Amino acid sequence: MLDRLETTLRIRGGARLEGSVATHGAKNAALPIMAAALLAKGTVTLHRVPRITDVSVMWSLLEALGARMRYEGDNTLTIDASNVASYRAPYALVRKLAASFDVVGPLLGRFGRAEVPLPGGCVLGTRATDLHEQAFVALGCEVHNAHGYLIAESREGRLRGATIEFRMPSVGATKNAMLAAVLADGTTTLKNVAMEPEVVDLANFLVAMGAKILGTGTDTIVIEGVDELQGVEYEIIADRIVTGTLLFAGAVTRGDVTVRRCNPQHLQAVVDKLAECGATTMTGDDWIRVKADGITGGTDILTAPYPGFPTDLQPQVVGFLCTCPGTSVVEESIFNARFSYVNELARMGADVRVTMESNAAIVKGPKQLSGAPVEAPDIRAGAGLVVAGLAAAGETEIIGLEYIDRGYERLEELLSELGGQVQRSSGVTPLVEPAGFFETSEYPRISA
Ligand code: EPZ
Repeated sequence: MLDRLETTLRIRGGARLEGSVATHGAKNAALPIMAAALLAKGTVTLHRVPRITDVSVMWSLLEALGARMRYEGDNTLTIDASNVASYRAPYALVRKLAASFDVVGPLLGRFGRAEVPLPGGCVLGTRATDLHEQAFVALGCEVHNAHGYLIAESREGRLRGATIEFRMPSVGATKNAMLAAVLADGTTTLKNVAMEPEVVDLANFLVAMGAKILGTGTDTIVIEGVDELQGVEYEIIADRIVTGTLLFAGAVTRGDVTVRRCNPQHLQAVVDKLAECGATTMTGDDWIRVKADGITGGTDILTAPYPGFPTDLQPQVVGFLCTCPGTSVVEESIFNARFSYVNELARMGADVRVTMESNAAIVKGPKQLSGAPVEAPDIRAGAGLVVAGLAAAGETEIIGLEYIDRGYERLEELLSELGGQVQRSSGVTPLVEPAGFFETSEYPRISA
């Protein structure tokens, strides 16, 4: 019998989470800001960078392009991109991280050319790039796809300012358009842009480097191109998705949890929904508290671009709603395949089903969930299964911890600090191949 080493997360549910923890820096701000360091004339120092695998992949990608990276300890890293001479990103790294596509804008801004593998599809559905390409063409580039790569090149070398109106607010396209436009010749106006806090944080970082950007946080951004950007020291904002995950972990256990070092303004939609379910919520300058011993019912959710309810907290809120009285409808408006984890919840005894006519999950509760071995198909689905496991009777073992580690730094430690019984375990699991339907000398029947 063949075996393989599997690292899983083991959760013994039932403990009420209580106490307070500090959240870490935002993955979805750190990744584009690291890419933006390619535009700096000097060294960039970033504080509060989460130690997660997505950051490690972006680190390796920047190194592959020629940047010199150093980890200074205490979630601080420095990036010196002065020797970057390549505008071609390696497939081996981009395939691991859709956000690697954030390097296209900086490479175009710096070299007037970029060759970056197209972000393949992922479990959330298609990861289209038509809005990114619309921006690059408007800024004076010729764009085509060749052998799985996006090839973009400015005919005149330096990009030129333009007015670009997006058909829908796209976080990725807004970031790439900003990153390409800050060194362009002239003024760029971006309309119908994403207003996520991570996009605002990227804009603030670019301004700190010397970029001229007006209107961030609104649906229209105006960028005056400059000739160069300087290296700076900068602190990444708090991760609002990690914060929301911890709040739902507290709520699902009917606990009393405070998350510190966060920005409550970034989670207004989430706090409002917790209150609709009967939780008591309190906020301060940099903390949010949820006291959930008075949950009275579920609620309906529609995920939407910021400041709407974030799609990245959709699995976590479904895990929580499984334990709430009544019927809750959770409609996903951003991604077309973000409910693959629902079957795993059903295996834990949840009464949840996805409607075919709309991209929505119908959740009926309250249900006493039962611990089970489950598999995480992506980062946030894994977090949703963790939320459910915290309320389930018995043990839940989550396979696919490598997904959770992509977006959460020490999640098991954060939850343990709150009293959760959560541990990382590396076990040897038998690799059971399906018995072959034929037997030859090469393929002996493997006994189950
Ligand atoms: C960012 O992805 C985040 N990732 C996602 O978080 C988040 O779910 C998403 O924004 C929405 O908030 C990072 O920031 C690294 P989009 P992104 O461009 O940039 C369609 C997580 O777990 N679209 O706003 O890919 C696209 O197909 C991740 O941290 C086009 O049609 O989001 C999708 O359906 C998951 N054409 C929708 O827009 C385009 O050119 C949202 O995409 C671009 C996007």
